[in-house]
This record gives sequence, structure tokens and C-alpha cells, in this order.
Amino acid sequence: MERLRVSGGTSLRGSVRVNGAKNSALKLMAAALLAEGRTTLHDVPSITDVRYMGELLRRLGADVSRDDSTVVIDVPEKVSHEAPYELVRRLRASICVLGPLLARCGAADVALPGGDAIGSRGLDMHIAGLRRLGASVEVEHGYVVARAPDGLKGAMIGLDFPSVGATENILMAAVLADGETVIDNVAREPEILDICHMLIGMGAQIEGVGSSTLHVQGLPGLSPVEHTTIPDRIVTGTWAVAALMTRGDITVTNGRAEDLELVLDKLASAGAVIEPGAGEDGAGLRIAMSGRPRAIDVVTLPYPGFPTDLQPMVVALNAVADGTAMITENVYEARFMFVNELARLGAEVRIDGHHAVIRGRESLSGAPVVATDIRAGAGLVLAGLVAEGETLVSAVHHIDRGYPDFVGQLNGLGADVVREPDPDRFEA
Ligand code: UD1
Repeated sequence: MERLRVSGGTSLRGSVRVNGAKNSALKLMAAALLAEGRTTLHDVPSITDVRYMGELLRRLGADVSRDDSTVVIDVPEKVSHEAPYELVRRLRASICVLGPLLARCGAADVALPGGDAIGSRGLDMHIAGLRRLGASVEVEHGYVVARAPDGLKGAMIGLDFPSVGATENILMAAVLADGETVIDNVAREPEILDICHMLIGMGAQIEGVGSSTLHVQGLPGLSPVEHTTIPDRIVTGTWAVAALMTRGDITVTNGRAEDLELVLDKLASAGAVIEPGAGEDGAGLRIAMSGRPRAIDVVTLPYPGFPTDLQPMVVALNAVADGTAMITENVYEARFMFVNELARLGAEVRIDGHHAVIRGRESLSGAPVVATDIRAGAGLVLAGLVAEGETLVSAVHHIDRGYPDFVGQLNGLGADVVREPDPDRFEA
């Protein structure tokens, strides 16, 4: 087990390039199962979750290789339909093999991914959608057992809530179903657009990309494809908040401002200068801050609302902002758990159900804290950057799940962060 030793007090300045989006790449890897042959994915982040997804695809029969940020997935004609618990439990995104396996094999046994430190994550909409496509789907002995021996049939499906995972699973099943499927109230996250573009590249017929309703004309087969993952908007947002908190000046050379409109509006109202188009080839964005940020209220919602994945970062920002802020978490109820760790640095936060009220302080003071999940870990590191003295962030493996080379990039921007063995913690 390792930890990060973060010395507070430097302002982050310079340029940084963000990796491809974790929340897209994992789903694109699952989508590769839909076609026999070699699919090539570029800009796949080098993070533990991608390694785990690679292992799962291998177990299903694919050959997976990696060269720098390119991943090649060679899918055989016949894939196994069993995704076992020991692999699925490691990452929630592995549930996204359910739709492709059912569509390709007419059967899928996928272990329930289990709990997560940010709250319960239901599957009812995934299951209801696949049933509408004609599959029998039951939960038995800890597995989702889905069968469609005669193939899937296009259907009208309305989601109760624009769930990212349910949209992906149903979409990946529908592209190989017989006839037309209409999916209403779909998620509109940039990662959904990314997977739609990949599927269209594989030959899928999808209309309405970017809207709340997708029309899918099912086909008997798809072809492998070469596709580049979109840049990670959550990592871009993390750098943006870091610039504000440390009163710095960061250019994210390939970040996409258009995927972060509401976030950037909020950060501008906290006092930041935001300059889109400041990076490579007119892309990218610059975020600069002088003086103390003003407190900002935030409500997390499905896209284009404020992303739940950036909630811990704005809680950390408000902990040192001028004023009092209210953060409302609408997506994952247990996401405020990390606030207890932030309080160890002196943050003044009161939780009331899914609201957090944060009274900004002039400064925080360094202390040992524990990263409870990926984003909470990043939020704690940002807080450590502005705390007086040293902050020791343990359970750094959580951060590794979402931020490739976080320490290298932080130090490249002028931070003083050291990764070291954690003498107080042992692998369970
Ligand atoms: C969520 C985020 C997504 C983010 C991802 C990674 C939202 C809406 N989604 O996606 O932007 O990239 O985490 O952290 O912000 N739910 C059910 N039943 C279902 C499916 C979902 O009750 O069948 C519930 C979940 O428990 C959760 C909410 O709906 O409370 C969001 O679900 P979903 O969008 O599917 O979650 P992720 O795909 O993990």
C-alpha cells in the first residue's frame, strides 16, 4: 500500500495534457465484443480499471494487447458468455459486458458488481430494458443471468432516469437486435456520444445521437473499428479546480471546454479566468485564478448538469473559498462520506441528507487522511495542496483507478508531492 505526501502552499502553473476518458474507454472496450476481429482503441488511459477490463475481456476469449496508449482487442468468432465474480467485482464498469454478450451469444452470465463506496448502484433499468428486447433476465446466485436463444427483438424502451450504464447496455444490445429499437430518456453524457460514434464506425445504425431519444436499426453483425477515446472531462475539471484552489494558471492542452460548460460557468463565478481554445490546435482551455475564490453552490445532476464525479473537488474548493456554499448530491447518496476526511484538514462542513453546507476558511492544515474512492482521493489531494504543512493521503490505489501519473503531472505543474510506501497500511 502506498500514500502521497503532499506539501501545501505551491500554486500550480503550466501545461498538462489529459488522458482519454476512463468512463468512456472502459465502455468502448466492452463494445469491441460486438464484432469479430481486431478493434483498435487510441488514447486509452493507463489506469488499473483498464487493466481489469482487459483481464475480463481475455477471460471472455479476446486477445488484448497494449502499446503505449493504444489498446488492440482481437475478438474471436465465439466468445464466452460468463463474466465471473472475481473479475467483475473489481470494477463496476464490467457490467457493461452484459448487453454485448447477450447480443453476440444469446446468453450472458455476469456477476453482480457489488457495492461501491459512493452508494448503491441499481441495475433495474438495465434489466428491464433487456427484457423489453425479448431476453429473459433473472438475478440468481449473485449473477445476472440473461437468455435470448432466438435473438433480441427491437422494442420501444423508456428509461425512468437517464442512467449512463443502462443506456450503454441497452444500446449495445439493440445494435444487433432484429428491427428498430427506440430508447427514450437516454443519458446524454459526452461518453454516450463517444460510444455512439464508435458503434456507428462499426456499422451500427443509430439516429438521434446527442438527444434524449435514440433510434437504433438493428443489424445482424458489426465490423471492428479504429477509434480514439474522448479526453477525460473529469480529469480536466480536476485540473481546473486545482488552478482555482492554488491560485494558479493551468492550460489543459487537449481538454474540451464544450463538455464542461456548466462546470466552467460555475468556476468563472468563483472568480476564475477561463480561456477556451488555449491548447493544441485551438482545442484545450486555460484556467487562471488570482486571489481567493468565492463560494459556489452546486447541484449534481445527469449531464448537462454538474457531474457527480466533480462533487468532491468543489467541496474541497468551497472549504477554502470566501463565503458559505451549499452542495446538493442527487446521484450517489454516500458520496459525502469523504467529508469526514476533509474535516481532518480543518474544513467546516455540515451534512444534512444529500446537502452539504460548507463554510469557507482562510486556510486548512495538513493531516493524515484516507482516500475513500477515486474522486474523493483527488479532492483530498487538492485540499492538501492548499493546506499548511504536509497532508498524507493513504489508500492511493483508489486514485490510480482514475488518474494516470497523477503525481508526475502534479509535480510537472509545480506541486510538491511524493509517493511513498505507507507503513501504517497493509494489503487486505
Ligand atoms: C454515473 C454518472 C456518470 C459517471 C459515472 C462514473 C450520472 C447520472 N451518472 O454513471 O456521469 O460518469 O457514474 O462515476 O451522473 N440507477 C438505478 N438503476 C439502474 C441504473 C442506475 O437505480 O438500473 C441509479 C444508480 O444507482 C445511481 C443513478 O441511477 O444512483 C445513476 O446511475 P448511472 O448513470 O447508471 O450510473 P453510472 O453509469 O455509474
